[in-house]
Amino acid sequence: MNSLRKTLHTLAAAAEQAAGPKGPWQPDFHLVPPVGWLNDPNGLCRFRGEYHVFFQYTPFEANCGLKFWGHVKSQDLLRWEQCPVMLCPDTPFDLHGVYSGSALCEEDGLYLYYTGNVKHDGPYDYIRSGRESNTLLAYSPDGIHLEWKRLLLRNEDYPAGLTRHVRDPKVWKQEGRYYMLQGARTEEEEGVALVFASGDRLHWEHINTLRTEEPFGYMWECPDLVELNGRQFLLACPQGAAKQGPGFENPYACGYFPLSGDFRGECSLGELVPLDWGFDFYAPQTFLDGKRCLLTGWLGMPDAEYTNPTTAYGWQHCLTVPREVTCAGDRLQMQPAAELEALRGERQEWTFSGEETREAPAASDILITCEGSLSLDLSGACLRAEPGMLTLTLPEGGYGRTVRTAPVGTLRNLRILADVSALEIFVNDGETVLSTRWYPEDRRRELVLRGTGRAAVYEMKALEVTRWDPDGKSRRPE
Ligand code: FRU
Repeated sequence: MNSLRKTLHTLAAAAEQAAGPKGPWQPDFHLVPPVGWLNDPNGLCRFRGEYHVFFQYTPFEANCGLKFWGHVKSQDLLRWEQCPVMLCPDTPFDLHGVYSGSALCEEDGLYLYYTGNVKHDGPYDYIRSGRESNTLLAYSPDGIHLEWKRLLLRNEDYPAGLTRHVRDPKVWKQEGRYYMLQGARTEEEEGVALVFASGDRLHWEHINTLRTEEPFGYMWECPDLVELNGRQFLLACPQGAAKQGPGFENPYACGYFPLSGDFRGECSLGELVPLDWGFDFYAPQTFLDGKRCLLTGWLGMPDAEYTNPTTAYGWQHCLTVPREVTCAGDRLQMQPAAELEALRGERQEWTFSGEETREAPAASDILITCEGSLSLDLSGACLRAEPGMLTLTLPEGGYGRTVRTAPVGTLRNLRILADVSALEIFVNDGETVLSTRWYPEDRRRELVLRGTGRAAVYEMKALEVTRWDPDGKSRRPE
């Protein structure tokens, strides 16, 4: 281990050790950083029978800062081990942040592709000058220990006509070749996704650039490709998209372009469909675990103007639960991974007609089937379903957030994963999803339903998160 890496490892571990209680808004079943700041999920994969979740992580500050890759792993998506930081900013090529990237699982170990961020001192705008966006590869033989890092591509190696903003490599293997997507900002201020190919995972050739007919924003962050039922979808987080209205009310957009043709050659992108219509959803990443396509997103939003009250407790942000992605025609749908049902405890179930109020646990899985219009209040979060439109308002506990709307035909069912300070709302079997953080005063929850239908509320048990044990005693393979 180089000595800077050793020092950063030690400092990160010390910050984690010194972390105080997370306070009243610590979620029960959403993954949070051990201490400090979290943003994008990175390197999601199932490697040698274990799920690995890496994430953009600043252990030293709750308000963003120098980025590391934090790391947790699990066999069942329920019992997690908090591992030592995986990647530190410890080389001249990633000195100002190990930015987002992805994992490739191979026979001999885990290959992690990421962006090394370097900012030079000087009178630069850091868009066209003063910044390096390096593509690096880190290799771990066992998914825990890092053996080496290698610089693969520098700005000079990317195609011509780009600014210095190129990042977030998503790598996968398909039909015997390796492919990589990267998000980029062109000199004409247009967001694009670059496609690279490689035969040996080390040498990469630019083979295509994916763009919309009309420019859609100035930068596409975190591109990803989903292929389901023979259809391809390009996921991206466009910054600066001029589109307004439902689905485009957050500082940056996040969704998917249905892709006609093949990403490697002739193809065109349809209109961006928001993946999530709530206040907090960004930088999602997908992976195949052998039986399905799973997605995890950051339950947050860059540059959102609100004060997150958890910063007073030294931490900020969480990830969404893992969601299974399926495809219906040219639309994607998302549902919570089935594993989460194992967290369900006590259940109340009732039919309602008119207005009914019940107590609900602070962490719950709420299932509602209904006929026509519905109005639901859950301790300061209100959902109103009228024909054609679903409205989420946060009159209390929103800390500055107000209202989001989503077009929803006829409401048939709702599933709300309601955690202590997070809501993930799956509408009509996941055709539409709204996610948000919210911060009710206490753990008491009052659920008010107005309409006609049937409700079931399960208490949700907390995820188990333990510290990774280097001797492997705390968790034996089952
Ligand atoms: C998206 C993003 C990525 C970048 C990372 C840095 O939220 O801006 O484009 O790699 O976060 O933390």
